[in-house]
Amino acid sequence: MDPVTTMIDPFGRSISYLRVSVTDRCDFRCTYCMAEDMTFLPKKDLLSLEELDRLCAVFIEKGVRKLRLTGGEPLVRKNIMHLVRQVSRHLATGALDELTLTTNGSQLSRYAAELADCGVERINVSLDTLDKDKFRHVTRWGDLSKVMAGIDAGQAAGLKVKLNAVALKGFNEAELPEMLVWAHGRGMDFTVIETMPMGEIDADRTDQYLPLSLLRAQLERQFTLTDIPYRTGGPARYVEVKETGGRLGFITPLTHNFCESCNRVRLTCTGTLYMCLGQDDAADLRTPLRASEGNELVSSAIDEAIGRKPKGHDFVIDRRTKRPAVGRHMSVTGG
Ligand code: GTP
Ligand code: 5AD
Ligand code: SF4
Repeated sequence: MDPVTTMIDPFGRSISYLRVSVTDRCDFRCTYCMAEDMTFLPKKDLLSLEELDRLCAVFIEKGVRKLRLTGGEPLVRKNIMHLVRQVSRHLATGALDELTLTTNGSQLSRYAAELADCGVERINVSLDTLDKDKFRHVTRWGDLSKVMAGIDAGQAAGLKVKLNAVALKGFNEAELPEMLVWAHGRGMDFTVIETMPMGEIDADRTDQYLPLSLLRAQLERQFTLTDIPYRTGGPARYVEVKETGGRLGFITPLTHNFCESCNRVRLTCTGTLYMCLGQDDAADLRTPLRASEGNELVSSAIDEAIGRKPKGHDFVIDRRTKRPAVGRHMSVTGG
């Protein structure tokens, strides 16, 4: 492969990170992510695993070096390990640097060993609380003990596990220091995320939103935080916590926009490419993919889409802005 192959957007940003949502379904209904009553895509609209694999291969040929599977919940897609195994061939050839996934952990105990066997080294597990009743409340349907078993299995299989928690005012705000200590005690990085206004949910986002600038100030009363240049290729900015020796990441789309360094695009399970998490514009890759056996048509559709990648999102959360910035839920693209 030509090592200098790369996709450059109109703002000079090199696109090297593809997030692939393999299903819009999930076995949880997190209150900040979904409404309780969701309509999912009919199965007939999904790309097959072979088609997803083919699209991934085209992106890798065009310069993608990091690929993350997301959902909904990626591990609820039928035969998902077949796709992981297929895509992992690009790790073996050196065309891809990292194959990873973001999961809610509910199915992880079943799949952890096989993921590690496919060359997955690191995974992100979403976990917003360590309290089983609160966990049930925020996920509506989730069972904390299954996620804990999944984390155990991940670590036992040698996967580096990073925990992601959406910071929610009045819900896990007071518990976040304890979660940080717990995660670091188990050798896991911990990342906190500002809630983003995507899709109609049953709750009011203004009530949930906790600016991380505020959280950081609160944490600094208890911990010594030092900014570090460590990067994982995503939007998190990390600090080292002196008292625990672990790393804490902040993902701050609202208080500190990081779009200027955006390196990623998102592909959905129907073959739709979203060039920005916070914008509606998207490109259909399914039609050019199916129109010919060769990859020229889909390759030029990707070039055209990257050529109109927007500068950034327009997320705002305040009392006056009642409508979400984008109509689709986070579960359509998996963040
Ligand atoms: P690392 O590889 O560990 O850096 O992971 P990541 O942060 O790239 O991925 P993850 O799936 O763990 O995402 C964590 C959070 O970051 C999720 O809430 C995503 O929605 C959010 N996120 C990822 N990319 C973007 C982005 O381009 N814009 C915004 N606003 N949020 C993003
Ligand atoms: N804002 C911020 N993060 C969200 N996630 C889901 N919905 C939202 C939202 N509205 C998080 C999940 C998971 C990641 C993929 O995105 O908790 O960690
Ligand atoms: Fe499912 Fe993740 Fe959304 Fe929760 S945040 S409902 S686990 S997709």
